[in-house]
Amino acid sequence: MPSRLVVLVSGTGTNLQALLDAATDPAYGAEVVAVGADRDGIEGLARAERAGLPTFVVRVQDYDDRDDWDAALTENVGAYRPDLIVSAGFMKVVGKRFLERFPMVNTHPALLPSFPGAHAVRDALDYGIAVTGCTVHLVDAGIDTGPIVAQRAVEVLDDDDEASLHERIKAVERDLLVDVVGRMCRHGWSVNGRKVSLGE
Ligand code: GAR
Repeated sequence: MPSRLVVLVSGTGTNLQALLDAATDPAYGAEVVAVGADRDGIEGLARAERAGLPTFVVRVQDYDDRDDWDAALTENVGAYRPDLIVSAGFMKVVGKRFLERFPMVNTHPALLPSFPGAHAVRDALDYGIAVTGCTVHLVDAGIDTGPIVAQRAVEVLDDDDEASLHERIKAVERDLLVDVVGRMCRHGWSVNGRKVSLGE
């Protein structure tokens, strides 16, 4: 049986699309069973709907506090009995309850631990780095602090701005995410301290 993925998005969802495309091959070993978001009206949800998938939206502003939001997100996600959650451009930090229940990976557009947070590409450019990249990591309670599963480098060009650099990172990121999620689902993974090993 393929592993059941719930993918969380906040934006355009090109990483989600890459997973949807990969999962059309039964040998991939995973299928997206639902897509969730923290806001309405985004292309990521439209992609899921076009793929015939169930979607749900859990907005922070609809709850009294962050803990209630986390409980609602946990309940919505849990209804799809996922094996793994993929945060693919999901711009919210999930809470303790969520993380106790589900394993989760996040894709981030920088070489962590450099440039965590919501503006990684801009922060890296402002710093003047020559090489940046992307990271897929397990999610823990911090902001982009969980154990790293895989990373790839992307060179910064002289005339890059935030948009051009982010697009080149995203091209690499989509391949990396598809590769890592597939391997995790087909072969499993283990964590020893901060070291993540894929496979038996
Ligand atoms: C991706 O580059 C992802 O790494 C980033 O948002 C983009 C989403 O693109 N996430 C973060 O910055 C999280 N801190 P997409 O919606 O086209 O997949």
